Amino acid sequence: MPRSNLHNVITSAESQARSTTPQDGPGRVLQVGPLMPIVQTAIADEHDAVRLPDGTDRQAFLADHGFEFTVAVTSGKIGVGSELMAALPNLRAVVNFGVGYDTTDVAQARSRGILISNTPDVLNDCVADTALALLLDVFRRTTAADRFVRRGDWLRGNFPLASKLSGKSIGIVGLGRIGTAIAHRLEGFNCVISYHNRRPVPGVGYRYVDTLVELAKTSDALIVAAAGGAGSVKLINSEVIAALGPHGFLINIARGTVVDEAALTAALLSGELGGAGLDVFEDEPNVPTALLALENVVLLPHLASGTIETRAAMAELTLANLDQFLTAGTLRTPIAH
Ligand code: 8YV
Repeated sequence: MPRSNLHNVITSAESQARSTTPQDGPGRVLQVGPLMPIVQTAIADEHDAVRLPDGTDRQAFLADHGFEFTVAVTSGKIGVGSELMAALPNLRAVVNFGVGYDTTDVAQARSRGILISNTPDVLNDCVADTALALLLDVFRRTTAADRFVRRGDWLRGNFPLASKLSGKSIGIVGLGRIGTAIAHRLEGFNCVISYHNRRPVPGVGYRYVDTLVELAKTSDALIVAAAGGAGSVKLINSEVIAALGPHGFLINIARGTVVDEAALTAALLSGELGGAGLDVFEDEPNVPTALLALENVVLLPHLASGTIETRAAMAELTLANLDQFLTAGTLRTPIAH
């Protein structure tokens, strides 16, 4: 919906919304942050969704209209944080585009009985593929070699030898849906697979390792596939990085918050860590400047799920969750919280 129509739509709905409590009906749909154009169009056209204004207009908007919304549609990048959730007193559901929902205040949602949905499973393949792309790259140095050819360095000599990936010991941090999809791919490379998780996963043949330091010590590379959020902040700290060592590699396709980025940067600069392949960062889209100059680091702009096929599937699942909430008051893929 064009922003110019926003005021009229809100005003015309206002008298009706104020005279009933939103719990009596499906209520109104709030869009929080930018979404894929196809999702934005669908929720505006089919459900009259209203986009939360940015900047200084936001507070006044929420004071006047916050009570009208029963469902918020957002992305993992933006989420419904504590303050916003508190300003939506009749909120009953958060529909999240993305599997990660660490930007949403899950504790407040739990205490208020607010449902949350995410988009699990449909992105497992692409995120796992990206983990393998980064892993192959740090071992075989393909993007560094590409730069070597483009600079014309091949005319002056051969590219230095890299490391073999096949058969290496790989540690997976977080053996959930995505971690498992990564492990299946590593089997094809005859890798020795170990993992660390909050608890061992029943029925899994991979070696479970109790501590991250031990997993790092016994792995040639660690792949971080743990969920973000309060429980995993800086799980990969300087001790774990040191245990991985000067010939070890760190891959992160989870969340920047799971790794101590300052410690990682320091270890890469000093040579204490062999290299890293990173799709996620603490303060996206800002990447520590020191990393930009390092040849043994592969940097991606948080693109793991970014294929036409997977984003279409994520969009479809997001809309299915919204539809189900508006018609039945339940979600298609609710998180357990
Ligand atoms: C998305 C992701 O890019 O699903 C996730 O958790 O990190 C990515 O697939 C992101 O959530 C979109 O905001």
